[in-house]
Amino acid sequence: MLYLKNLVYHPPAASEALLKQINLELGIQEMGLIVGPSGSGKSTLLEIMSGLAAPTSGEMHWRRQELTPDDLQQLAGLVFQFPERHFCGNSILEELRLGHPEISTDRVYQALQEVGLEQLSLYTSPQSLSGGQQRRLALAVQLIRQPHLLLLDEPTAGLDWSMRRQLVHVLSKLKQHRSLLAVTHEPAELLAIADRCWLIDNGKIESISSQALTQRLNVNTLDPFHHSPDV
Ligand SMILES: Nc1ncnc2c1ncn2[C@@H]1O[C@H](COP(=O)(O)OP(=O)(O)O)[C@@H](O)[C@H]1O
Ligand SMILES: [Mg+2]
Repeated sequence: MLYLKNLVYHPPAASEALLKQINLELGIQEMGLIVGPSGSGKSTLLEIMSGLAAPTSGEMHWRRQELTPDDLQQLAGLVFQFPERHFCGNSILEELRLGHPEISTDRVYQALQEVGLEQLSLYTSPQSLSGGQQRRLALAVQLIRQPHLLLLDEPTAGLDWSMRRQLVHVLSKLKQHRSLLAVTHEPAELLAIADRCWLIDNGKIESISSQALTQRLNVNTLDPFHHSPDV
């Protein structure tokens, strides 16, 4: 179980805290979904949770262990928004082994199998894959490090509906062996596999049931992130 307790992030350059008293719990084999508009702090939260930046105050725990940013770098794998833009290997094998030349072919194959790309030749260029395949390769790049927590920034952005459906299917399998946390401003497909949901707005997070979130998105399509007087 992952716990965030009263987490605050206020970098000196910002006039106010970007993350305000964040409290969150996420179990293993669960997918959490954090939904909020652009600029609400979603990517910033993932930066903290992946250990790329240190919070100003508050605590993060995995089971009973308090986590430092270094621990989080080991524990978590972060898939950035549009991760395929950062591919730099000439082949799938090279992409997966970047920074880990020692990783066995078995592990490479296992990661590809987890994302449904095992039928491809390891020597295929990542650039020649479809958008959906590239997104799944980016998941495999993180899975190869065997993180307990997989963090996903806007995982469905820029994909067409069939690629989204495929990706959601892959994510539903991945959560059977680890914790997943996705942040997005377009939750429609991801809601179906979410076990816990939160809304984030201006750095503040509040928990919401997936039913209530679905309802809010259906009723309030113009501005799903804010209450309208009629809802
Ligand atoms: N290091 C930083 N210093 C100052 N402001 C920042 C920094 N990083 C992000 N911001 C600001 O924090 C807010 C949240 O950004 P972000 O987490 O990228 O939002 P989201 O991913 O929800 O679109 C934005 O207003 C952004 O401009
Ligand atoms: Mg973002």
